[in-house]
Amino acid sequence: MISKIATVAFHGVSTQEVTVEVQMSPGLPNFNIVGLADKAVAESRERIRASFHHLGLSLPPRRITVNLAPADIQKEGSHYDLPVALGLMASMEILDPLELSNYTVLGELGLDGALAPVVGVLPAALNAVSNNRGLICPEKGGREAAWAGDLTILAAPNLLALINHFKGTQVLSSPKAEICAASMSNKLDMKDIKGQLLAKRALEIAAAGGHNVLFVGPPGAGKSMLAQRLPSILPRLEPSEALDVTMIHSLAGLLPEDGLITERPFRDPHHSSSLVSLIGGGVRTKPGEISLAHQGVLFLDELPEFARSTLESLRQPLETGKIVVARANNHVTYPARIQLIAAMNPCRCGYYGDLQRQCHRVPKCAEEYQSKISGPLMDRFDLVFHVNEVKAVDLLEKNEGEASHAIAVRVAAARQQQIRRYGEGDLMPLNAVTDGEKLHEIATPDADGQHLLSIAIEKMRLSARSYHRVLRVARTIADLEGSDLVRRPNIAEALSYRQGGGKVG
Ligand SMILES: Nc1ncnc2c1ncn2[C@@H]1O[C@H](COP(=O)(O)OP(=O)(O)OP(=O)(O)O)[C@@H](O)[C@H]1O
Ligand SMILES: [Mg+2]
Repeated sequence: MISKIATVAFHGVSTQEVTVEVQMSPGLPNFNIVGLADKAVAESRERIRASFHHLGLSLPPRRITVNLAPADIQKEGSHYDLPVALGLMASMEILDPLELSNYTVLGELGLDGALAPVVGVLPAALNAVSNNRGLICPEKGGREAAWAGDLTILAAPNLLALINHFKGTQVLSSPKAEICAASMSNKLDMKDIKGQLLAKRALEIAAAGGHNVLFVGPPGAGKSMLAQRLPSILPRLEPSEALDVTMIHSLAGLLPEDGLITERPFRDPHHSSSLVSLIGGGVRTKPGEISLAHQGVLFLDELPEFARSTLESLRQPLETGKIVVARANNHVTYPARIQLIAAMNPCRCGYYGDLQRQCHRVPKCAEEYQSKISGPLMDRFDLVFHVNEVKAVDLLEKNEGEASHAIAVRVAAARQQQIRRYGEGDLMPLNAVTDGEKLHEIATPDADGQHLLSIAIEKMRLSARSYHRVLRVARTIADLEGSDLVRRPNIAEALSYRQGGGKVG
């Protein structure tokens, strides 16, 4: 008899159903796993043998063949241990194959039969729901799986508990969905920032419309400080967004409390990060920083210090909201709808423009430093803001600045306007991603604004993309005012964030 157990293979954030087939036939004792399995899967034989031994079981002296079907897709990871082990138990008539056919199974085995946590429990649970099955997974992934909806979950600490459950001697209770403690962590607050009213305004506009923003300024001006506080003024994730974000973190094995992430992610990779860690991929394909920041913020501090190829790789996902990672035999797509925030000094010494402190190499030093960022990447920032040093009177001010929750209320109101305009159904109903006809329909300014815009196009030599970005930012500014019409002052303010068509300094 051939016993069959359902499990999954991961392909980006999607899953593909895999059937573990186990056959025991007469012949020389042998245990083989076939079906394009990688090293971790091949090694599962030893873990299974050891955990069976721990339970006082031994594999029958027969020819055992395990096939992972379909055989033409690569099987990676250690989560095949448990389905193979259960398939063997079904063939050995320890467990009922009919009962096991109601479940999708994944989990890694320890030598003592303990079930170790694995990545991708949530996507596997969603796969189980769509196939009308329950899920068997390690205990540590149970609460994560519970977010997939209405399904039976058997989250067992070890193999023995699972056998006892099916024998009826120890019943495993279904875990409950729980919100991630990490996502409720204390966030940095805008009230810590003294003065810098204009910079805070730029950050508020960026948050309201989901715009990419670049802060340029001398060392210690508070650029990093501002950027780190962006999440504190962003609205929480919508339920469907939360599921997407949790799924990506689940695949990366980054869900600390195996719960749902409800707050927008904030990722700040170091400038020495490799291309693969930023965009994803690698030997075992994993989502990169850009996908971990999906529906949230990617912060690149000291922007020119990143390798040029790394920065250029961001250009396409910034436009499309997804990243396609090419592998030797296929392509994997991860979502990457991010808001990019970056900070940089205007030159290597950092004091370009400060007559007392700038180095003797100006303006060459600034030109060289800024040329590390290509024009097209610079063009993708809707707002470029020069952060000046904090004034002494602001620093000495005793009163705190405006708190994040007050700003978040205005941001949320502006986002509501956008949801009303673009509809709930849109993936990310934000001004920053509006394009074409729709943009002209909603952001065409009044006659005064039009006039100002036509002068700006000539004088500032705005590219077509820059022109559209000005319109988007102006639309957000009008949304923050609660106005349906984009007026001249909105256009003027939006233009002030473009800094001469993209060059900083
Ligand atoms: N507006 C401000 N209000 C209060 N403290 C500030 C302000 N700006 C800067 N600081 C203080 O200066 C420190 C350095 O700020 P931050 O790291 O944000 O500077 P930066 O502009 O990123 O500098 P660098 O270019 O060197 O990275 C902060 O940790 C904070 O203590
Ligand atoms: Mg900094």
